[in-house]
Amino acid sequence: MFSNLILKTPRCYTASTMNVNGRRYRTIWLEGPDHGVVRIINQLLLPHHFETLDLRTVEAVRRAIKDMYVRGAGLIGAAAAYGMYLAAREAGEASFEEDLLAAAKMLKNTRPTASNLACAVDTMLAALRSRQGKRAQKIEAARLAAEAIAEGDVQSCRNIGLYGLERIRAAAERKKGETVHILTHCNAGWLAFVDYGTALSPVYAAFDAGIALHVWIDETRPRNQGAALTAWELGGHGVPHDLIPDNAGGHLMQHGMVDLVITGADRVTRRGDAANKIGTYLKALAAKENGVPFYVALPSSTFDWNMSDGLEEIPIEERDAEEVRCMTGKTADGRIETVRICPDSTPARNWGFDVTPARYITGLITERGIAEPSEQGILKLYPEQNS
Ligand code: MRU
Repeated sequence: MFSNLILKTPRCYTASTMNVNGRRYRTIWLEGPDHGVVRIINQLLLPHHFETLDLRTVEAVRRAIKDMYVRGAGLIGAAAAYGMYLAAREAGEASFEEDLLAAAKMLKNTRPTASNLACAVDTMLAALRSRQGKRAQKIEAARLAAEAIAEGDVQSCRNIGLYGLERIRAAAERKKGETVHILTHCNAGWLAFVDYGTALSPVYAAFDAGIALHVWIDETRPRNQGAALTAWELGGHGVPHDLIPDNAGGHLMQHGMVDLVITGADRVTRRGDAANKIGTYLKALAAKENGVPFYVALPSSTFDWNMSDGLEEIPIEERDAEEVRCMTGKTADGRIETVRICPDSTPARNWGFDVTPARYITGLITERGIAEPSEQGILKLYPEQNS
């Protein structure tokens, strides 16, 4: 299966997609002579300033996840894994296991919806439990486990790109080489993972393969991940795109201006219900009504094998109402400012995610191939979860 894919790999796609001012980046990595620093890209300042930040304690990692210096399902998973590594460095000899369990609990409490976070923390705990020996050996085991989680994320996202590319190529063939228009919501590009991304990985692969394409980017209120992050990423890679208001997608679909929708996901149940950034469900409804294929791209760490019914079971994060009442942006003289957009006394609610039921999804683009969004379809690719 994979050898076939490798043959079709677009030339430029073999290396990382993350190129900032001519330098390759991942979103998170270790620094320092003893690998004691976790370095991240500060996503709160994008797209206006590019800055990296050093995290030296598990508490700093907790804050970075909670306050969205890092965000996106895959990246918060990787950040939590590195956070567990820092926790291992901080843990006492006698209280090692106890300290790690406390750190695991603290990290899991930061953001509830994306399953990658809990998956990464549990993988770290399992790796540490299976490692006997002195404290130094356990710390080294934690480092290797965190690096393996980050590397696994990169490889999964890369393969997602190659599988998704084939669907974009098919759309291009149907259109006889005319530009393929793809709509995406939120940011599921390299900034949301360690590299490549999920929804945007097929876009980069197709663009690098020379397919004519164009992306409609939903602005994604309230945090504007589409406007701030997806637009910045696609612009940096040279992919043609237009930013659109969140409510425009239905209109574009009615007028034949969208060939396919690709979004990411934060948690997907074993039956294929997908939680993603708030507003995704409405795009899926519009896509169904207008016969537009709707794909969800995810690595296996986003599946929650213990959940079946997404609407009933997936916890939806409710965030601070201030995010809805305000907007942050750059002033004419270059300052980053936050302004209120409603009367000072207006109350607001802010659900971070919604659930798109499997019946609205055309296919789940995973690192193992494209699954039909049903328990049977998913288990064909993940037979080991057939319990
Ligand atoms: O910015 P976040 O962490 O609140 O949003 C999560 C996401 O990145 C999106 O829902 C995305 O589309 C899922 S894929 C990472």
